[in-house]
Amino acid sequence: MKQILKTSLVKGFAMLGLQAEFHKKKHDTDIVFFDKNTLEYFQQDHPRMALYREGLAKSGMEWVDNFPLQCRLFSLQQMAELAARRNIDGEFAECGCWKGHSAYIISKILTRHGFSRSFHIFDSFEGGLSDKTSEDVSDYARQTKEEAEFEKNWFSSTIDDLKKALVGFDFIEIYKGWIPERFHEVEHKRFAFVHVDVDLYQPTLDSLKFFYPRLMPGGIIVVDDYGYSVFPGAKRAVDEYVRGIDCSLFYETPMGSCFIIK
Ligand SMILES: C[S@@+](CC[C@H](N)C(=O)[O-])C[C@H]1O[C@@H](n2cnc3c(N)ncnc32)[C@H](O)[C@@H]1O
Repeated sequence: MKQILKTSLVKGFAMLGLQAEFHKKKHDTDIVFFDKNTLEYFQQDHPRMALYREGLAKSGMEWVDNFPLQCRLFSLQQMAELAARRNIDGEFAECGCWKGHSAYIISKILTRHGFSRSFHIFDSFEGGLSDKTSEDVSDYARQTKEEAEFEKNWFSSTIDDLKKALVGFDFIEIYKGWIPERFHEVEHKRFAFVHVDVDLYQPTLDSLKFFYPRLMPGGIIVVDDYGYSVFPGAKRAVDEYVRGIDCSLFYETPMGSCFIIK
């Protein structure tokens, strides 16, 4: 019934030339309408939206398309472009790639900028998220055992999924293992840009502790899950870490992510 209502509303709004966006709350159903046509960023032919969709198609992830994700990856693209354009003397890294959507987008940006160093990608490739700690729990994020298991498996992917999405990029280095197990293999490198998207407290904190000291001045870290109520641990890890550093910019986006510029 809800689906029929939703489909009819989408069609009705489309006939009026409007795009509708829906958001489901955890405890009740809340439908939010928003005319995306008023923002040129979300038109299909905007270059960043086109790359967002290309990445979804290459990674076989069209089914995850949603408005907050569009916003986050729109911002991510700008940060990756900035780091590539400034030609900061360092490499690129991503912690948490799933099936390669964001990794594809970053790789495409690097190709456009003639990047000739390495893009290092870290993921467990082993049944999704690692175990949650008490830092990953909040009243909003309370889950049954079954819900936690479902969420963990939701983020499963294989190294072959990633390779398939990133075929043709010759600067990719993939590290399979639980963070921070394989960080030591890049401990002597310096970084211009790091995308941290591991959802949980401990791997987010481990990634910041490892990469921030190795970030070049002007280098950028984007943390994807900052401010997301379902993943409170990511925000806790960032807040805890940034209290002890003197970065030149800390910016919290309104759609669930943050930027740390050294
Ligand atoms: C939200 S997904 C990443 C999404 C991806 N960046 C994208 O844009 O499609 C989170 C990823 O983090 C990985 N992950 C979570 N905890 C991890 C840990 N402790 N070590 C390694 N990988 C982890 C999961 O395997 C999953 O692929």
